[in-house]
Amino acid sequence: MKSYKIGIIKGDGIGPEIIDEAIKVLDAISVKQGFNLKYEEMLLGGAAIDETGVPLPDETIQGVKKCDAVLFGAIGGPKWDKLERHLRPETGLLGLRKEMGTFANLRPAMVYDELVNASSLKPEVIKGVDIMVVRELTGGIYFGQPRAIEEDRAYNTMVYTREEVERIAVVAFEIAMKRNKRICSVDKANVLEVSHFWRDIVEEVAKNYPEVELSHMYVDNAAMQLIRAPKQFDVILTGNIFGDILSDAASMLSGSIGLLPSASTGKGVGLFEPIHGSAPDIAGQGIANPLATISSASMMLRYALGESKAADKIDEAIKRALSEGYRTGDIGDYDAKEICTCSQMGDIIADYASR
Ligand code: IPM
Ligand code: MN
Repeated sequence: MKSYKIGIIKGDGIGPEIIDEAIKVLDAISVKQGFNLKYEEMLLGGAAIDETGVPLPDETIQGVKKCDAVLFGAIGGPKWDKLERHLRPETGLLGLRKEMGTFANLRPAMVYDELVNASSLKPEVIKGVDIMVVRELTGGIYFGQPRAIEEDRAYNTMVYTREEVERIAVVAFEIAMKRNKRICSVDKANVLEVSHFWRDIVEEVAKNYPEVELSHMYVDNAAMQLIRAPKQFDVILTGNIFGDILSDAASMLSGSIGLLPSASTGKGVGLFEPIHGSAPDIAGQGIANPLATISSASMMLRYALGESKAADKIDEAIKRALSEGYRTGDIGDYDAKEICTCSQMGDIIADYASR
């Protein structure tokens, strides 16, 4: 029987609750589909700070390298907000992404037909939306040097190298070839040199993909267009900070940020995580929506392990549960037949996915 080793990072806040549901689903499906998953838990973020004093322990850096893929919940919370930047939970996640070389962050924003009424936008605006945000994840202003806080000023630097832009552009074009062959590259080239450079390199890469229609958009306009007419987008290619912001905005097209998964891939082992945060306000109450994490587990099966049948089963199970009216609280106001806890939702998906 095929066997895979999965790194598990539960993290903080709702992280442990949502990861437990994803594991429940993975266990049910792997038995049924004839492969075996071995889990190895690792520490990151606040949980790591409490246990070891640092947000990214060496054991985690070494541990992830021995895995076939890593599934991650969420990190951060008010408890650690007062720490200096290099000791904050978020720094652990950024360091892990850099260590793993996961430069390409894929964030799908799709609207489930069953939930067209859950969005704050009109159903006709969002029905059929299917966008893939390709966010550069290990460069840009998040990592640029120099950076500092001084007495009377502070600064960060937005840097992109040719290699960094080329490789993320290639990822976006390859994805576009498998989708509707349209890319909108988002930047701020009317103001920033780094964006001008980005645009030139994306144009160069485009020459190798004559079938793909490439357009460019300034990030302020893109934020507006995502809300005004989201169906105009197929693949959005953008840098680290613009992608961070636009993917949160795009998530609301689906009705709840609790629904959307992400995959971070690059040089080696991939990292799979929901796009939402640790939601400390609802942590421990059992009411979080586990679907984004369960969906991330499905992306992990598909992209990291090649178990696409199992991934299809999970995706179908999610659609079925939603069409039958099972809802967690975040989407509970819309066509709900039954409001579920986090764990009940996990039970339902595990059951449907393994039939
Ligand atoms: C995300 C998060 C992270 C980011 C934070 C927690 C560092 O917002 O994954 O989108 O900004 O990348
Ligand atoms: Mn974010």
